[in-house]
Amino acid sequence: MPKPQARPVPAAEARPPSHLFYLSSLRRPLVDRAEGIYFWTKDGRRFIDGSSGPMVANIGHSNRNVLDAMKRQMDKTTFAYRLHFENEPAEELARQLARKLPEGMDRIFFVSGGSEATESCIKLARQWAVATGQPKRWKVIARFPSYHGGTLGSLAVTGDDALAETFTPLMQVMPTVPAPAAWRDRDNLSMEQRGIRYADMLEEKIVAEGPESVLAFIMEPIGGAATAALVAPDSYYPRIREICDRYGILLIHDEVMSGAGRTGKFLGGDHWNCRPDIVALSKGLGSGYAPLGALAAPMRLVEPLLASGGFQHGHTYAGNPLACAAGLAVLSEMDRLDLIANAAAMGDVLIGELRGLAKRFPFMADVRGKGLLLGVEMVADPETLKPIDQTRRATQRLLDLAYARGLIIYGRKVKGGVDGDNFMVAPPMIITREQIGEMISIIGDSLEALAAELDLPVEG
Ligand SMILES: Cc1ncc(COP(=O)(O)O)c(C=O)c1O
Repeated sequence: MPKPQARPVPAAEARPPSHLFYLSSLRRPLVDRAEGIYFWTKDGRRFIDGSSGPMVANIGHSNRNVLDAMKRQMDKTTFAYRLHFENEPAEELARQLARKLPEGMDRIFFVSGGSEATESCIKLARQWAVATGQPKRWKVIARFPSYHGGTLGSLAVTGDDALAETFTPLMQVMPTVPAPAAWRDRDNLSMEQRGIRYADMLEEKIVAEGPESVLAFIMEPIGGAATAALVAPDSYYPRIREICDRYGILLIHDEVMSGAGRTGKFLGGDHWNCRPDIVALSKGLGSGYAPLGALAAPMRLVEPLLASGGFQHGHTYAGNPLACAAGLAVLSEMDRLDLIANAAAMGDVLIGELRGLAKRFPFMADVRGKGLLLGVEMVADPETLKPIDQTRRATQRLLDLAYARGLIIYGRKVKGGVDGDNFMVAPPMIITREQIGEMISIIGDSLEALAAELDLPVEG
């Protein structure tokens, strides 16, 4: 039996053993600094942040105005507990957010991350049901695949077998419906008919579960890592709203990744004028400057909770002045630099370039997304959609090939965490055309190398 290999650490980076542990034991270069769309490591390498980390750094790194706003806040106070004091940054951020959200979504509850945000949405929904005399409603239907977070509550509504399996006995696992991967379907229906069919699967599930037991439906309006930026046919969105209304079920939009401007609108759901009941936000809201998340809901949902003693939920750091000052400055930079418009315009350029690459590399079977939240699904055979042999680890190989060339892109298995290859390109919203050109050239080289390694089809 071969001896286990030591973890590879390039000589130039020889470092003491790490006490940290994560999902993978892979060592990475030590980061030195970041600016705009770039990172520099201690050993002098430069990386393009082609995925904004995990789709976080929406306004780019080291924005001077955000740093200055945070420093000004730090000189006053970094922490004031919300049960002891109100603070101006939290008040003002809630006000600004309410202005950007769909009409009536004007009650805000701050948290420190995405899992806290989605879990808070679920708890708000449940407490609302109890407070309004509907205590039998508790099931939250989710989509499969999907990602809503890593805490037990948010994991219970996450459609990802690889992540959930070990923890299933600890959770109340919730019912799921298929995510609307209509592009894969081989039938005679139009895309719009397929959109209706996927939405109707929610109604079938509600009926099967017993409508009186169903509390909410949670979905990412534009998919995140679990589906590589999956977008449903247009017909899906209004039909989902209709179905939720018919059965008195709350519609929760998880905009943790798709929100805060990344897709070319403030919310992903704004592309369809969606009217969710509750919205979860995080990632781009703090843009990596501070851990920040939020849930937004209308007064009609919040009022019954307040009347019954308040929201029975909270986290110590929620609404702290430093994170909120960062969030406020992030929103202000987004407006000052017109970044949402830039995300829409540069998203068009980037998706066009990726579709160009797909002509050369037909194993890029679907290129999709909105604005700067874009994903590419890869298959062995574009005709039959036969997946790439999983032992070849195509996604990870491509990510490694790009990383070795100085570009960070993102990817996770798109079939419930166990199968399916893809990559996601989601650079900061400040990106320029020239920088997109630089990224595309590295992606092209990396795909070329991947195709050669795995014997994937290449045109011309
Ligand atoms: C759509 C969505 N919801 C929730 C989360 C969980 O966020 P966090 O990792 O900040 O807890 C994520 C993180 O990737 C996400 O993409």
